[in-house]
Amino acid sequence: VTSIKFGNKIGMHKNEIETPVLMVDLDTMESNLKKMAEFFKTVPANLRPHTKTHKTPSLAHKQIEYGAVGICCGTLDEAAVMISAGIRDVLVTREIVSPEQLDRVIGLSRHSDIIIIVDDHEVVERFALAAESNGVKVRTMIDVRCRLDRSGVLPGDPSLLIARKIHNSKGLKFAGIAGYEGSMHGWKPERREASCKEALSSLIETKELIERDGIEVPIVSAGATSTYRTAGSFPGITEVQAGTYITMDDEYYGFFPEFNIALSVLTTVISRPSSTVVTTDAGSKKLTTDEGLPVPKDSPWLKLKAVNEEHGVLELMELERKIVVGDKIEIIPSHGCTTFNLYDHVYGMRDDHLEIIWKIAARGC
Ligand SMILES: Cc1ncc(COP(=O)(O)O)c(C=O)c1O
Repeated sequence: VTSIKFGNKIGMHKNEIETPVLMVDLDTMESNLKKMAEFFKTVPANLRPHTKTHKTPSLAHKQIEYGAVGICCGTLDEAAVMISAGIRDVLVTREIVSPEQLDRVIGLSRHSDIIIIVDDHEVVERFALAAESNGVKVRTMIDVRCRLDRSGVLPGDPSLLIARKIHNSKGLKFAGIAGYEGSMHGWKPERREASCKEALSSLIETKELIERDGIEVPIVSAGATSTYRTAGSFPGITEVQAGTYITMDDEYYGFFPEFNIALSVLTTVISRPSSTVVTTDAGSKKLTTDEGLPVPKDSPWLKLKAVNEEHGVLELMELERKIVVGDKIEIIPSHGCTTFNLYDHVYGMRDDHLEIIWKIAARGC
């Protein structure tokens, strides 16, 4: 993309850009990618980043350039976009259950090494038959319920039973186990690490149980940005599913000094209705609040108070600061993943100039 509907063009300074737009600071993002890549060179586990964070094929390709072995996707739709963009090794981390979606998996498996996860015997039986009758072998992992009560088969024997079923089927190829233990935001580091290790232990015990049954477990996948060090260095874990590290967001800010926030929404002041109120053009249709209110960047004198649909209402706490209609204000999303999903494009900025525009092609998927 070289320009978009606003007429924004490559090379513009951020003060010239029509807003609201989603931006990444390229130096910061590249530093995050490099730091993560450096860590994974020191441990046996590999990085398989979760691209639900940015939903942007160009960024997924970048993560692979920085050493990732493949990617994770949150949905089949997201995976279809990434596969169409040329990415082969794609793990879909949410269960697929309908026959229609399975048809799509069968089609996609002819163009990629897609991996699906399952936690239900009946689904495994149906999928195995459908894949076999279509002459494909779909890589299939078990979603093992480690800590989060949201999906997955219990560790131990229940996982072994389903592993046998996948292994013995002609249409499915047993690819391993996945046990997302949850990000545990806001927890004290010691508690988070202990809880992560407990979850990973049950995952590894399950892997060993399956292996003792004579079934190879090629992939053992777990982890998030908040637990990448613990999961990445835990014996037996082969892949880590960190997502947010690439751009970070306010919710994750301060977790690790090695990653900095690259993501922001550029807004314009559209009204100064009173001396303490600054209103911008980015409301709830441009900034999500599922993880709290976003935060103005480098401006402790400003506080976002409310987001209406198309208005962001900020409080000016230092009245001597001069802010006038037309000024630009950068806002750091509280939750990057849900914010990306609101935009068609993300602007790559270097030294405050627009260097590249990427399409968020899986936005809404
Ligand atoms: C299945 C799965 N894997 C990994 C992650 C990790 O994401 P992040 O690194 O953004 O915390 C998530 C977060 O929601 C997830 O649902």
